[in-house]
Amino acid sequence: MQRLTQAAEETRALGAALGRTARAGDVLWLHGELGAGKTELTKGVADGLGCADPVSSPSFALIHEYHGGRLPLFHIDLYRLDTPAAADLGLEDYLEDDGVTVIEWGERLPAGYFPDGVELTLAYTDTESDARCLTLDARGPAGTAWLARAEGTT
Ligand SMILES: Nc1ncnc2c1ncn2[C@@H]1O[C@H](COP(=O)(O)OP(=O)(O)O)[C@@H](O)[C@H]1O
Ligand SMILES: [Mg+2]
Repeated sequence: MQRLTQAAEETRALGAALGRTARAGDVLWLHGELGAGKTELTKGVADGLGCADPVSSPSFALIHEYHGGRLPLFHIDLYRLDTPAAADLGLEDYLEDDGVTVIEWGERLPAGYFPDGVELTLAYTDTESDARCLTLDARGPAGTAWLARAEGTT
């Protein structure tokens, strides 16, 4: 699925559709350059989960946990890590937990690290500074089911 958004609010709305339809154990990993909107999208996921806590970038903490919504949200940012350090984080514990896990800079992880989930890439467009092209791909059955539920609501 591909979507063009014209403003941060539209990117958050797409994240909210994912948040509303997420099930325990769902994993979303986000790709895109700095400023592409990965954290904006995660704010939408939190909204969709009914979590009113302010979401901020976990660039330094690596992981922020939000427990105010329908399911826990684990927001992970691997920007500062190299691949061996990322592989050593014990992320499996989060992925096996009962929450929704959103990972920025998941490309820091070793290839094939995530068996299932939704992969979302945000890209700048040439035309307008506030436009982003969002590409969503399911990676496995849980990711396929999640995308189908989200598409049904948008
Ligand atoms: N269409 C859009 N989607 C998402 N963010 C946008 C969009 N247009 C402008 N922005 C702005 O771009 C910035 C994205 O920042 P952020 O989400 O922190 O990026 P990242 O986490 O990918 O580094 C925000 O300041 C946001 O307001
Ligand atoms: Mg970010």
